[in-house]
Amino acid sequence: MLIDGHGRVVNYLRVSVTERCNFRCLYCMPEKPFSWVPKENLLEFEDLFKFIKIGIDSGINKIRITGGEPLVRQDLDKFIKMIHDYKPDIDLALTTNGYMLPDTVKALKEAGLKRINISLDSLKPAVAAQIAQKNVLGRVLQGIDMALDLGLGVKINMVPLKGINDSEILDILEYGRENGIRVRFIEYMENAHADSDIKGMHGKEILEVIKQKYTIHKLGRSGASPSFNYEIEENGYIFGLIDPHKHDFCESCNRIRLTAEGDLIPCLYFDEAMSISEAVRGGDIDRAAEILGEVLANKPKENRWSEDENESSNRAFYQTGG
Ligand code: 5AD
Ligand code: SF4
Repeated sequence: MLIDGHGRVVNYLRVSVTERCNFRCLYCMPEKPFSWVPKENLLEFEDLFKFIKIGIDSGINKIRITGGEPLVRQDLDKFIKMIHDYKPDIDLALTTNGYMLPDTVKALKEAGLKRINISLDSLKPAVAAQIAQKNVLGRVLQGIDMALDLGLGVKINMVPLKGINDSEILDILEYGRENGIRVRFIEYMENAHADSDIKGMHGKEILEVIKQKYTIHKLGRSGASPSFNYEIEENGYIFGLIDPHKHDFCESCNRIRLTAEGDLIPCLYFDEAMSISEAVRGGDIDRAAEILGEVLANKPKENRWSEDENESSNRAFYQTGG
């Protein structure tokens, strides 16, 4: 079992396979063109997998593939199959913007993928295009339908932004209810890379919008999930709210992150990281395991929003998969 310096059990590894993305979401990486990390700094799937095996052997039982946009990396299904074949009962999930799902989702499912989280910030083509800075909605909705048809677990993430898509909170909620998909509203997390003009909504404000139409009941966090669940009294639909600005958010944190370059990150909201790149490339598995131990021992207790509401993260969420 992996236990961090504050006694929390860590069983969840998020692996970012690329920082690259085919969208330019306002809350993530608005600039065009974008200067990427050179390709040679990327770890091969084989090298990422060496670390993943260490994790699984020591108690990781949930892995999520993230990016950037993970599906812009070639042969992602092969990587998923490597992980699945090593431990078929692992909870294997993917976070994607959905754009490439129509071309890839069948192969991903066959490779052993179980669940997909898809970003859906708007149901209006023009608003979706404003946020992603690209005409994306048609393919994303098609990707969601295909994932559902294949029997994959599907969740939807929406980041409400004031004056942009905040009028669609109820529409997205209804879309989720009609399609049997859990929607999770995510508070915009201030970060140095986002468009500086955007303003997010606090969890409380998001709930206020929903309360104008429905009576909602607090259910609680599902396990160690950062999402707090609510049930709508009128129809029994359950949705989630991810509210990192809240004080109790970090208490049950069970995760660490690995980037495509091999940086092992104990907490999304701090700059600290240690590289396993040299160790895995050189086949020094003991050293990689040692670094994992050090990163766990130094995992921060909580993000900085518990002290300062207006804190902004320097981390690029496109490198760490949010
Ligand atoms: N604040 C909140 N959520 C974000 N995401 C990306 N950047 C941010 C941010 N700054 C979310 C996206 C996507 C997931 C990968 O992370 O909406 O669903
Ligand atoms: Fe790409 Fe996801 Fe960032 Fe949007 S939020 S730019 S889809 S990595």
